Amino acid sequence: MNFKGKDIISIKDFSKPEINYILDYSKKMVDFAKGEKYIDILKGKVMSSLFFEPSTRTMLSFGCAMNRLGGRVIGFSDPGKTSQKKGESLADTIRMADSYSDLIVIRHPQEGAARLATEFAEVPVINAGDGAGQHPTQCLLDLFTILTEKKKIEGNKVILLGDLKYGRTVHSLAYALSLYGAELTFVSPKSLEMPREVVDECKDLGVKPVSTSNLEKSIRDTDVLYVTRIQKERFPDAEEYNKVVGTYTIDNKLLQNAKKDLIIMHPLPRLAEINPEVDTTPHALYFKEAFNGVPLRMALLSLTIGGEL
Ligand code: NCD
Repeated sequence: MNFKGKDIISIKDFSKPEINYILDYSKKMVDFAKGEKYIDILKGKVMSSLFFEPSTRTMLSFGCAMNRLGGRVIGFSDPGKTSQKKGESLADTIRMADSYSDLIVIRHPQEGAARLATEFAEVPVINAGDGAGQHPTQCLLDLFTILTEKKKIEGNKVILLGDLKYGRTVHSLAYALSLYGAELTFVSPKSLEMPREVVDECKDLGVKPVSTSNLEKSIRDTDVLYVTRIQKERFPDAEEYNKVVGTYTIDNKLLQNAKKDLIIMHPLPRLAEINPEVDTTPHALYFKEAFNGVPLRMALLSLTIGGEL
């Protein structure tokens, strides 16, 4: 399998054997990701980190991954301090990053921005989130987390909860979980249901997702509860946000009805949708999930620009 020079824009660009290969390869990166072993297979390589939207985990774990592989990072996290402020086009910004680096990681508020960037870059482009579109690297680390904890992806009963309309992580994950034949339940307020096209993609892959707003009932026989934040920044109207914020809260009382080995995931940042009292229960996997971003992204960087271990 050859990923050299490949853009990573959508999880839909990958076949199941390709995803399996990446997940296997990520396992080999764990000790390096923790700093317990050392490699420098990306020595001399430079990654552009272009964040047009706020980020903590995605930006820092990409940076960490590049450093752990011996590479270096240039970039920005505040586009207001770049020539974008003077009116420069995205195309020209990408052309510059292309000439200064070996790979571009981009997060942008507009859906399709990462795909557009590939038109102006010779080097590989990785989509670190494009508006309400896709978040393929988060999806891969989520799959990696489920695989590590549950030993398999197929057959798990998974709830995707919260803002299924604007949440890009769940758009990518619903597709990928369908590829593996997981059982899907979508739980959201009525106004934030999973977009029709994502539901259709799942059905095309042979999965029949159940949509409901009743979390208490659905949680009983669930293996994985994937919680998301209501994406305030994507609401055209503050009133609409106020109507749905606080609809679901995961707390210890709710978890009394859950399976003992239920795992709770969240791409983070978490606001009030998970009560901090849950953090110390064996269900809470979200911080480990965030760490998994490092080995997973090390694998992607190594496969696209480094040559393999
Ligand atoms: C998510 C994102 O940016 O889509 N965060 C992340 O990358 N880990 C989720 C969110 O912002 O709610």
